[in-house]
Amino acid sequence: MKKLPYVFSDKDRTIQFDKFDLPSPWINYLSNGRMHAFVSQAGGGLTWWQTPMLFRVTRYRFYNLPIDSPGFYVYLRMEDGSVWSPTFRPCETKVDRREAAHSPGYSVFTAEKNGLTATLKLFMAQDTDTLLWDLKLCNQCGYEVSCDVFAYVELSQFMAQQENILGYYLKWNTRAVFNEELQAITYAYTAWMHPRKDDSPMVYFGSDAKINSFCCNRDSFCGYYRDERNPVEIEKGCLSNTNLQGGEPCGALHTHITVSGGEKTQIHYYLGVTKGALADYEKAIEETKETLIALRKAGAADEQFAKLQAWWDKHLNVMQCQLPDADAEREINTWNPLQSVHTARLSRSISSDASGVRGIGFRDTAQDMLAQAYRKPEWARDMLWYLASQQLEDGHAVHTAWPEENRPPQDITRSDDHIWMVYLAYAIAAETGDLSFLDKEIPFLSADLVTPAGSATLWEHLLRGVDFTEKHLGAHDLPLILFSDWNDHLGPFGRKGKGESIMVSQQHIYALQQLGEMAAMRRDTAAVESFAGLIDKQEKALEKYAWDGEWFLRGLDDDAQPIGTHSAAHARIWLNAQSWMIIAGACKDKQIRAMDSVARELDTGMGLLLNTPGYPGWPSKESAMVNGLPAGYSENGGVFCQANCWAIMAEALLGRGDLAWKYYKQILPNTVIQKIGVERYHAEAYAYCSTMLGKDNEKFGWGCVSQVTGTAAWMDVVATQYILGVRPTLKGLLIDPSIPSQWDGYTVERLYRGCRLIIQVENQAHVQHGVKEIILNGVSLNLTDGAYITESNLSGCETAQVKVIMG
Ligand code: GLC
Repeated sequence: MKKLPYVFSDKDRTIQFDKFDLPSPWINYLSNGRMHAFVSQAGGGLTWWQTPMLFRVTRYRFYNLPIDSPGFYVYLRMEDGSVWSPTFRPCETKVDRREAAHSPGYSVFTAEKNGLTATLKLFMAQDTDTLLWDLKLCNQCGYEVSCDVFAYVELSQFMAQQENILGYYLKWNTRAVFNEELQAITYAYTAWMHPRKDDSPMVYFGSDAKINSFCCNRDSFCGYYRDERNPVEIEKGCLSNTNLQGGEPCGALHTHITVSGGEKTQIHYYLGVTKGALADYEKAIEETKETLIALRKAGAADEQFAKLQAWWDKHLNVMQCQLPDADAEREINTWNPLQSVHTARLSRSISSDASGVRGIGFRDTAQDMLAQAYRKPEWARDMLWYLASQQLEDGHAVHTAWPEENRPPQDITRSDDHIWMVYLAYAIAAETGDLSFLDKEIPFLSADLVTPAGSATLWEHLLRGVDFTEKHLGAHDLPLILFSDWNDHLGPFGRKGKGESIMVSQQHIYALQQLGEMAAMRRDTAAVESFAGLIDKQEKALEKYAWDGEWFLRGLDDDAQPIGTHSAAHARIWLNAQSWMIIAGACKDKQIRAMDSVARELDTGMGLLLNTPGYPGWPSKESAMVNGLPAGYSENGGVFCQANCWAIMAEALLGRGDLAWKYYKQILPNTVIQKIGVERYHAEAYAYCSTMLGKDNEKFGWGCVSQVTGTAAWMDVVATQYILGVRPTLKGLLIDPSIPSQWDGYTVERLYRGCRLIIQVENQAHVQHGVKEIILNGVSLNLTDGAYITESNLSGCETAQVKVIMG
């Protein structure tokens, strides 16, 4: 095994790199929830405000060479004319030492050359929408060193898609100038057709150092047929003081510095936005001035950094664990919840892969917020309220929405979108014990997809969803596939409108169970009974039609032929139909057999395949069944990581902790990399990918679409709530571990309804599942109704010591 190009330092929650030309950008998101950026291990990156579609502040060249550029660049030009950077890009100069490190919310880049060390820390200010660059230069030589420091960003036409289509005209609407009073570059994009023209911000790029020269014109900065790797103005050692009205804008600032031997110096740069440049120019300038004055105060950057760290500490400390497995512990404590925050903020929209125009996926966000429901229930609740406003009166939901973009949603009816809202509602209720958010009045969306229709409570919204599913059952009483279900590529089986989905039936049952529990708490017995009847109907249909002999079918196609049957040449077994049967709790007597088939047929040792064998790719006719996807990719025989989570959940629910653990551990990116290496896996060691190529593909194991995936939230949920088994329910906090039998135990710290629980699980019996006793603050709990810690058990405690004895 080759040495890995990174090492984790768990106590600082850091990954440190010692190789920079990795197979792909390994990014870190920097954000305050309004202004966002990502930066790679090489210093490439992008920043945007609110929406990467409408307010893209800097540029990033997706899909084009050179990859991962441009970024947030600092050039150090020495007196002999040599140029280097704290980041690997842009210069790629050989230096004496180089490091890069990502941590929650910030990245640090260090390079040392001839006794001078440059350290660049990037993070987002919390109180203002500013990307802070904290540059430290430390002179370890015994003599004075002088150099010219240049900071550079390429600015963007805010409207990312329009830039591709009409950028050759719209670039006339760029104005970047050095403002003497502000001692900063200001940039505005003045295209009148911007859909949020009044919000359109003033971008500023300033510093707390004396500016010796500047440049606002990218082409002048770089020079003809050059790029940011060897800009002509850096070569000259001085910038041209060029302003720009129309053209390709940039921000470049130059400061000449001298550092005495053994001394340090520090420069801050501020790349930020002030709302409303076009609406009121004077006001925007005035506000920018105030912001810069505040940021330039001594200690201001450190104060913002402390606030950022406090935010992450608070967020992560809701749930922390100590496990006998360092890889899993690191994931659960740091990197997984970190990724969950980003998917909650960004849905599937933007990463170094995803170009940032996709808006919010309805089902995607409903699932992403599951990982916030237990850490930030108010955030999850607000998003759920928003999602409900994107539901139509017949109960189905739009598929994609652009809440920040002033753009109507996209409505191609899927059979599952609306159902995911129920799980989120349940998760919020289970965490807080408060169901009043269900009474919030929320408008429906009318058929024009713009005007709100009559409003109803969130509860009523959820019931309309049930109605929609019930009104779209097929000939076998199973829900119709419609355009597709969770699987975006299932549609070809149901194009004539008759295909039915077994997964949606299972989802419907699970939703009805959760609705039933909520209805009982609302004392709505009529609803409880009606849901029970609907569950019964689905269970009967599943009993009758779902079983194939060794596993469950995935559905029935337009001609009532089975999807996922043993005699099929392609896709004869599908993962989700098995795992979701356990989640739904239906067809109980066949569940173990089905999951044994999963182990036998779908487990590659490096993830479970979504289905197998894959359909052959184009030009085979069958490739039409998966919309042309080559074999091994994604929904066609790929390892779909999100679907692996449901299999983990299923095994945990079955009490087979050894298998749950195997499936969990084997798809941790760091595990996969240790097995096949960075070159083959390709993507980040600390963030999940959407899929890995399956074994039908020669690049088996290759990670595709990292960062923006539903895997983040689901892995977070299954690891903490189903493997470690600290699971919020309406009855209280259920303690239900499903762990590897060889574990002696583990510890979880969990903030629950205002009380910090220190839960020590002991497994001297070496079982995979089963709780014999819970001792809370020295008192053994009565477990006749299940292993729950209820709010009344905790009454008034700020902390509680909980001992859990498995056996
Ligand atoms: C992608 C989509 C998600 C879909 C999944 C399976 O991840 O974002 O909405 O459910 O693929 O097709």
